[in-house]
Amino acid sequence: MWEFWRRHKRKVYVTLGVLGSGYLVYKLYDAHRRRLSDLERELAGRHESDELIKAQMQAHFENIQRISDMTTLPHAMLSLSSQVAEELDVMNLAERLMKGKGRPNTLASSERLELWDRLKILSFTRMALSLWAMTMLSLYIRVQVNILGRHLYIDTARGIGSSQLLEEADLIERNDEQQFLSSADFLSNDGLSTLISNMQAAASGVLKGNHLKDLFNTTVLHDTIVQILDTFMSMGNPHHWVDYLMPQDARVQDLIASSGSDSTDLSHATKFDLLMAETRAVLSSAEFGNIVDMTLKTVVDALVEDIEVQSEGSLSSGMPLAKLLPRIAQMAPLLLEEPSRNRFIQIIRNIQEVELFFTLLYANAPIG
Ligand SMILES: *[C@@H]1O[C@H](CO)[C@@H](O)[C@H](O)[C@H]1NC(C)=O
Repeated sequence: MWEFWRRHKRKVYVTLGVLGSGYLVYKLYDAHRRRLSDLERELAGRHESDELIKAQMQAHFENIQRISDMTTLPHAMLSLSSQVAEELDVMNLAERLMKGKGRPNTLASSERLELWDRLKILSFTRMALSLWAMTMLSLYIRVQVNILGRHLYIDTARGIGSSQLLEEADLIERNDEQQFLSSADFLSNDGLSTLISNMQAAASGVLKGNHLKDLFNTTVLHDTIVQILDTFMSMGNPHHWVDYLMPQDARVQDLIASSGSDSTDLSHATKFDLLMAETRAVLSSAEFGNIVDMTLKTVVDALVEDIEVQSEGSLSSGMPLAKLLPRIAQMAPLLLEEPSRNRFIQIIRNIQEVELFFTLLYANAPIG
């Protein structure tokens, strides 16, 4: 045995050494392999959670879009249409005029004339206001949805929503989102009375020279509506109309004023404040102004076309203003129809430039 050992010890050492180092290499290799598969598993897991986050984000965005399509816009349109019907009641005036018809003693002619004049202003005011409010409301709500969608994207990229610790914060954010979306009701609740009086002033100014016997054809009607809207939009300070759509919050104003400077401290601002500030900035931008102009003109074109079709061609050859007024009064409620049945809202949705504007807004391409 010893003999054997003495003769072969070198070999044995070498063999053991080889085996040992082989084992070591194997251990190393195994660990490495495990690490690799761990890494692969981890990567796969991360990929899965990425997909999960993406899917959650998509679902949340679609949810916001759905809330705004199914609830926010229809609800805002409904309250707007009932408020407008109440505040700008054309029927009452028309009935008083009809009662006096053929019974000359019931109404003095000066009184009749005054009633006709009021009916003229009221009919055009209601039509122009309905057109403006419907257009602005549908644009406003789309601004909201796209800003919310982008915030959601950024928050998710920062990891909010993926952490359980932040679930509570997420809940608060969703409250703010709800509050933000419900600001679409501001127009019919708070903005409407000033909007009515200013639109009425614009209509009175434009129509003051028009008599009931004046002939209105398609061109004249079109130009009259455009003129009323232009007069209204250019009243007071450049963005006065933004105040009919959303609250004039001093806090939000401050945020806008200081945004852009590095010293801005946004830590005290709630998500709601930020969203409102951003919305106001978009609404005040020149690009949004262009979109508004274009959309209003498209809707005026469609509206005048409808009135022309309904008059069976008599508008194109010219009809007295007195005969046109009932048609105008009839059109106004159609402008504030519920979104699913509102032809004009569909028309707005199909304007390519509007589509592009919102795509850029969502992507946060520079728009201002
Ligand atoms: C409508 O009437 C005005 C004059 O009142 C005229 O200049 C215009 O060409 C007419 N438009 C159409 C389409 O007939």
